[in-house]
Amino acid sequence: MAREKVVLAYSGGLDTSCCIKWLMTEKNLDVITLCVNVGQETDDLEAIRKKALASGAIESLVADVREEFANDFLTKELAANGLYENKYPLLSALSRPVIVKHLVEVAHQYGAAYVAHGCTGKGNDQVRFEVGVQTLDPTIQVLAPVREWDLLTRPQEIAYAQANGIEVGATKKNPYSIDDNLWGRAIECGVLEDPWNEPPADIWKTTADVADAPDEPETVVVGFEAGVPCSLDGERKSFLDVIEALNVIAGRNGYGRLDQIENRLVGIKSRECYELPGGLALIEAHKALEDLCLERDLLHYKLNLEHKWSELVYDGLWFSPLKQALDAFFASTQGLLTGEIRLRFWKGTCTVTGRRSAYSLYDKSIATYDEGDTFDRNSAAGFIYQWGLPTRVWATQRLATGTEGRI
Ligand code: ARG
Repeated sequence: MAREKVVLAYSGGLDTSCCIKWLMTEKNLDVITLCVNVGQETDDLEAIRKKALASGAIESLVADVREEFANDFLTKELAANGLYENKYPLLSALSRPVIVKHLVEVAHQYGAAYVAHGCTGKGNDQVRFEVGVQTLDPTIQVLAPVREWDLLTRPQEIAYAQANGIEVGATKKNPYSIDDNLWGRAIECGVLEDPWNEPPADIWKTTADVADAPDEPETVVVGFEAGVPCSLDGERKSFLDVIEALNVIAGRNGYGRLDQIENRLVGIKSRECYELPGGLALIEAHKALEDLCLERDLLHYKLNLEHKWSELVYDGLWFSPLKQALDAFFASTQGLLTGEIRLRFWKGTCTVTGRRSAYSLYDKSIATYDEGDTFDRNSAAGFIYQWGLPTRVWATQRLATGTEGRI
């Protein structure tokens, strides 16, 4: 009888290569690997594909999903100005759902009853994989070899690989745990585990040190159409191309680094460093355009929902009904978010220096302190009388009863 199949999310690294053997021997499964290209730094996807086969996979697939990742996932991130805990632009939390979507598709295509990932038992990514798969297809079972096996130390894992004919490579293990995609890079572990240690210079790859950044500022105009970046300095580009180009521009000016303590869903506080030169710049630009174009009540309400959206995505609920409903709300706010934002990068900073839109709600004839003012100042007095009435009634009552200031 043919063995049952499992689709493994495969990176080509030592962990997921050992997972192939482990799933074959411990779970008696045929392994199909899927390496999803979300714009991470890889040497050679063809080499990764072959490595899976050499490690025992019956089929090894590579999917380039960068356009889809940008168009169906990062557009939603931008519409939501997604920042977990008001600061983390969700980069790993955004790539997991697109990987999950393709894992489930391949499982259906090959009739696999199982899906597997190489996450440890301490992070958020295991939650995102498993909750994501269960939401898309609750009949699929998820396996987490790295969480289950007892290859606890690196030497044990290397010995396991060598004993099973898995190429270990000449690699000294990278002292950090790195996850990266189009949107940016996440760096943790090693000396970063002491929150007092300053991040060593060698953790950064896409952002220049401010000391080495050019002395002259660099200006770029980002064009948006219906909330999605569509040009740089007037030249039309796909969203994917805008992200890639801005990563270079913002990165060489030393903009886009984060170093923070973050609260994982599993309850652990962790020290995380990120670099997202393009992503952070685009969020700044997008917010600036919303400031210009969204009506006040809508903007304020949206800000509250952005916070909730970011939490849902961080917590692995990308495919949940609430998250989808919030996407629909945000989408309804982006239709006329068309215009241009001028950004100036300089020595680690990104500053909005100009904004314009055919749908701008900024009305100079109302705002001006110069000639041409059409704002009716006299109506302000009546407005203030009414606006302050509840608190004035309260203050008057307390004064009369000798209870000034008492709530
Ligand atoms: N703490 C971030 C998150 O949970 C980044 C995780 C990065 N993953 C990794 N394997 N280094 O989204």
